[in-house]
Amino acid sequence: MRRRRKGSGRVELWPQAGLLLVAPASTLLVPNSHPQLDSHSCLPAGSLPTADLREEFLKVKAMAQVPVNLDLCPSTWEPLEPAQIQKLISRSQEAKKFAYCPYSNFPVGAALLTQDGKIYSGCNIENAAYPLGICAERTAIQKAISEGHKEFRAIAITSNLKNDFIAPCGACRQVMREFGKHWYVYMTKADGTYDVSTVHELLPRSFGPDDLKKSK
Ligand code: THU
Repeated sequence: MRRRRKGSGRVELWPQAGLLLVAPASTLLVPNSHPQLDSHSCLPAGSLPTADLREEFLKVKAMAQVPVNLDLCPSTWEPLEPAQIQKLISRSQEAKKFAYCPYSNFPVGAALLTQDGKIYSGCNIENAAYPLGICAERTAIQKAISEGHKEFRAIAITSNLKNDFIAPCGACRQVMREFGKHWYVYMTKADGTYDVSTVHELLPRSFGPDDLKKSK
C-alpha cells in the first residue's frame, strides 16, 4: 500500500492550458465546479494528501473544455519519499555491479520504480557487434514492460562518474517518454548524491504515442 503524504504538492491553474498542475511547493489551488476552469478556490498547503491531489487533477482534466496540454507541466505529482529515493539509488548501484561492458568499461546501473511499488533494475549490456549494446535504463524498462508494468514513478541511474551526475542518453530518454512525460529521473554521482528531473524536462517538445493519433 502506498503511503500518503500531506502537504507536498502545489496545484496551479494555468488558464491558457486549462490545466491544473502539481509541483512540490506550498500553495494549493483547486477549481470550483465551473467547467471552464475560469475560477478557483485556494486551500492552505497540506489540506489534501498528494494522492488526493492527483484525483483532483484527474477530475479537472476531465472537466476541462479546453485542450489540456501537459507539455506545460514542469513537474509531476507525488515526489518520492527520501527513503524511497535512497532505496532506488541503492538498487541501481547493485545493478551496476552486473554491467557487461568490456568495450567501454563504463558500467551503468538503473532501478525503475513502478506505480504499484515494484522495482526493476538493469545494467548496460554490450556486444562485440557494438550497436547491439543496450543501456542500463532500457534494460530495466524492458524488464518491467515484459512483466506487465508500464506505469512508472521514477528511475535512478548510477555510474562510476565521481564528479558528474550520469545523464541518460537520447535513446533512453525517448524510451522513457513512451511511458509518460511526468515521472522522475534521479541522476546520481558515484557517491550516491543525485540530481532529479522529470522525463519532460529531459526531453521537451517530444514525440510520443498521442502524436500518432492527431489529425492528419
Ligand atoms: N550507458 C548507459 O547504460 N546508460 C547511460 O545513461 C549512458 C551510457 C552505457 C552504454 C554503454 O554500454 C556505455 O554506457 C558507454 O556508453
